[in-house]
Amino acid sequence: MDGNGRWAARRGLPRTAGHTEGEENLAALVRHAVTRDIGWLTVFGFSTENWVRPRTEVRHILGLHKKLFGRVAELNDLNVRIGWMGRPFDSPGARTPKYVQQAIRKAIRDTSHNTGMVFTVAFDYGSRAELVHAAEEARLAGETISESAIWQHLYQPELPPVDVLVRTSGELRISNFMLWQIAGARAYFTDTPWPELSGAELDAALAILDR
Ligand code: FPP
Repeated sequence: MDGNGRWAARRGLPRTAGHTEGEENLAALVRHAVTRDIGWLTVFGFSTENWVRPRTEVRHILGLHKKLFGRVAELNDLNVRIGWMGRPFDSPGARTPKYVQQAIRKAIRDTSHNTGMVFTVAFDYGSRAELVHAAEEARLAGETISESAIWQHLYQPELPPVDVLVRTSGELRISNFMLWQIAGARAYFTDTPWPELSGAELDAALAILDR
């Protein structure tokens, strides 16, 4: 979800205003995705590298995550099950504050009965850390390191391989996001900043599956 900061700067607003708009747009796109019968939607909300951002910006983004995970009634109306992936809260180096942990746990519990789209937010997430974790878990369980062992020990083993990767705001790079799961995925890169990504453009991204 790139481009919140640039979206705000173009309007003479603080970066935090861009993140607020980004959260609203995310909620709108979740509603849209449900109408398109998407089974799995996964977003990169905050990376293991994002902690170095200015403290006020980090605090603001944490507050937005608390807010998003608090939108349980809306998610239940949509029959959406929310999930989270990231460094386990008790693992060395993990930094998710208690109040965000609580919001995540509650949202997962209170939407666990839903049978529609699974909406996963990556928070305090890094793909390389996830792969190290998966290999380490497999080793501790005495398993032979194999592709299926790695799959089984990813943070969210139930997530299927990615069909379409969407990256906004003109970034033509792959970042530290689901590196294992995106092998073979189609990619849709757009100049549109995240706060302006529309449902119609999400449809265009999905349409590359038919090519
Ligand atoms: C990247 O854009 C965006 C982020 C690091 C944060 C993403 C957060 C949101 C969309 C808000 C809420 C989301 C959730 C899941 C609650 P950037 O800040 O790097 O923007 P820039 O590239 O223009 O500087």
